[in-house]
Amino acid sequence: MTTEIPTISEAQNEVEERLIRNVLTSFEDCQDARLKELMQKLVVHLHAFVRDVRLTEEEWNTAISFLTEVGHITDDKRQEFILLSDVLGLSMQTINVNNEAYGNATEATVFGPFFVDDAPLIDNGGDIAGGAPGQPCWVEGTVKDTEGNPVSGARIEVWEADDEGFYDVQHTDGRVYGRAHLFSDANGEYRFWGLTPTPYPIPHDGPVGRMLESTGRSPMRASHLHFMVTAANQRSLVTHIFVTGDELLKYDTVFGVKQSLIKDFEQQPAGAPTPDGRDLGEQAWAKARFDIVLAPVDM
Ligand code: BEZ
Ligand code: FE
Repeated sequence: MTTEIPTISEAQNEVEERLIRNVLTSFEDCQDARLKELMQKLVVHLHAFVRDVRLTEEEWNTAISFLTEVGHITDDKRQEFILLSDVLGLSMQTINVNNEAYGNATEATVFGPFFVDDAPLIDNGGDIAGGAPGQPCWVEGTVKDTEGNPVSGARIEVWEADDEGFYDVQHTDGRVYGRAHLFSDANGEYRFWGLTPTPYPIPHDGPVGRMLESTGRSPMRASHLHFMVTAANQRSLVTHIFVTGDELLKYDTVFGVKQSLIKDFEQQPAGAPTPDGRDLGEQAWAKARFDIVLAPVDM
């Protein structure tokens, strides 16, 4: 897609460029060099957009009304601006820019709005599902640094939606399920029971949802399980794992999927022996492995 300015007369071009120069000059005395750079580059890119598409005044008004609605629906529980950034790929691009690939370190992806700070602590091997409906899933792996040394005592936060596509915090009854934190053991190993991830839509009853609908886009996210891993001297990692074979991998509406994060969730028939001897009765279950590599903190 080209960003060239369509053909306009020389006089018109001069009018448009003079305005840009004037706006850029208005920031010249900004004492904060970084703020000045951000504002001037923002002006350059915004004006390029308006000139490229020859934005009509009606379209400008529609955009302002849309952003106003995004503001009105946003409060301390719902962040429609982040959702807008997510569906435009801006959140993911910011993550890409700030988490440059380092050796074999695990890749990062979007944080999403459903993390909570005080999720329960479970022992290694415990259950994060906490009664949430869904198929039990055994998840295990290691936490290592990029030199292959095990990282013990890494704090591993995990959270996920139930099999109806809802996080606990989307219910109004204060329930806590589908989330916990645990610590890697002395060998850097971790293991827990969770739920086999299933696809779900991002909140789409607001202006962002309407924008997706008007543009023929789906609100669905590929099935995933969230992780946030922190350890001394290591770069914090916010990521998810996705499910091999999920049809939505190519269409994740927040562009969060990275090839390296797609993992096999191997289906096990009812009665198959579980890794920790847990009796699941007549329930089928799944198992997945996710070996995590943390980059050094100064990267
Ligand atoms: C999520 O995975 O929970 C999520 C991420 C971005 C937007 C909405 C939801
Ligand atoms: Fe999620």
